[in-house]
Amino acid sequence: AITRHYTFNITYKNITRLCNTRSVVTVNGKFPGPRLVAREGDQVLVKVVNQVSYNITIHWHGIRQLTSGWADGPAYVTQCPIKTGQSYTYNFTITGQRGTLLWHAHISWLRSSVYGPIIILPKRNESYPFRKPYKEFPILFGEWFNVDPEAIIAQALQTGAGPNVSDAYTINGLPGPLYNCSSKDTFKLKVKPGKTYLLRLINAALNDELFFSIANHTLTVVEADAIYVKPFDADTLLISPGQTTNVLLKTKPASPSAIFFMSARPYFTGRGSIDNSTTAAILEYSHPSNSSRKVPLFKPTLPPINATGFVANFTRKFRSLANAKFPANVPQTVDRKFFFTVGLGTNPCPANTTCQGPTNTTKFSASINNVSFALPSVALLQSYFFGMSNGVFTSDFPQNPPVTFNYTGTPPNNTNVSNGTKALILRFNTSVELVLQGTSILGAESHPLHLHGFNFFVVGQGFGNYDPNKDPANFNLIDPIERNTAGVPAGGWIAIRFLADNPGVWFMHCHLDVHTSWGLRMAWVVLDGPQPNQKLQPPPSDLPSC
Ligand code: C2O
Repeated sequence: AITRHYTFNITYKNITRLCNTRSVVTVNGKFPGPRLVAREGDQVLVKVVNQVSYNITIHWHGIRQLTSGWADGPAYVTQCPIKTGQSYTYNFTITGQRGTLLWHAHISWLRSSVYGPIIILPKRNESYPFRKPYKEFPILFGEWFNVDPEAIIAQALQTGAGPNVSDAYTINGLPGPLYNCSSKDTFKLKVKPGKTYLLRLINAALNDELFFSIANHTLTVVEADAIYVKPFDADTLLISPGQTTNVLLKTKPASPSAIFFMSARPYFTGRGSIDNSTTAAILEYSHPSNSSRKVPLFKPTLPPINATGFVANFTRKFRSLANAKFPANVPQTVDRKFFFTVGLGTNPCPANTTCQGPTNTTKFSASINNVSFALPSVALLQSYFFGMSNGVFTSDFPQNPPVTFNYTGTPPNNTNVSNGTKALILRFNTSVELVLQGTSILGAESHPLHLHGFNFFVVGQGFGNYDPNKDPANFNLIDPIERNTAGVPAGGWIAIRFLADNPGVWFMHCHLDVHTSWGLRMAWVVLDGPQPNQKLQPPPSDLPSC
């Protein structure tokens, strides 16, 4: 294992997409940002230098951060933001993980342009549990906004309205030829015939779960969220924000006289409008001779926007490898069981404000167990570590019985949620079972829930209301998928299990940023264990203060 040093300069850069030029917040002037490459076991030091006028933090999404919570990155949860002109060095070691993850800004909506791949190679002398690919490529999905996303979310929170949606989806930062004024901004993947390629798919989009397919090619899924899976073939994938999926692409034995689109567009069942446009990139075979002749173009067929049945079938295909080399350490017994509702709701419109929320006296809100989480003004981890939690957060969660919910789409008379900064406290090594139930109060919508600091096993999922008497009998405790982000189905539930073996304060939230901004987020506190390596390390000296 070695130590790898990176410098991330947060700078403005003029970027033009869709014939619209905007000054965009970037890392090192790149959009999407640079690759972070390491091997399992390596120590990684990333010095982040803030040269823009926004506060910033960076999150290493999916990195376990064992006892190194200070390097996790969510603003006001594990750290205060890095202010203009300041720097902070994230210092962590990659333990027990290999595969694809992503890094991204974790404050407000800066993730819209501040994101990039994390590529964790196996240890030296270790190989993939699948055929060695000829070449590897990261494929990042994102969104392009013609207007500054920081202004969009600030205005939406002020007026209580739903924010404006983006102007295009992107593949490796490029919208592709199906948008106006965009054909030159098309990502091209050049391949040779008869080879196997590893595509590292990353959904960094702010607010959209995406279907993805490559015309006339079948993909073999081999890894998700930096965990190897039992390989399976798929023509179309669903990938939610925060999720990563490694697929093998086997190219045709001889170069076909054709080009192929690789396309992505959203899966969405919620209310309100969404941009249902398609981003496309080109898969192009090398033609040693006459490469300029006109050839047919094939486009993939993607599922309809609300294809919940497809999504449920697809997510059920994921299974952990669960073999001797890569075991699935599913907690077989449970110390604490929780049932949380997740979904949208409302907050009363403040006095003297004109709101444009679901009604003109309310603004949009989102909650876990009816509590809409308010970010504190000091970082939770600092206040916890220094024993100054008083007035910063309370530990009365989950205290209320969950709000009555239904999945028929008829909202209750009162959709208002309560607000608070509450944390759930766990003893070290508690094994947790958590059922996340979608409420459907303002429409059945899927919520890709992301847990920091842990991987969890998705032991069950279903539609309708979770039944504690019947559903556990069908839990998969043998080879369930292990991941860090999983969709709570539209009008349904998932059950997850994890071992709370990582001391610190850990955020959990919907990875659709609009829902996070509305309060669909919470914090877990995991106490220190008895051994020295089971304790949260003290903070680094350059940790920013609020
Ligand atoms: Cu990828 Cu809390 O985020």
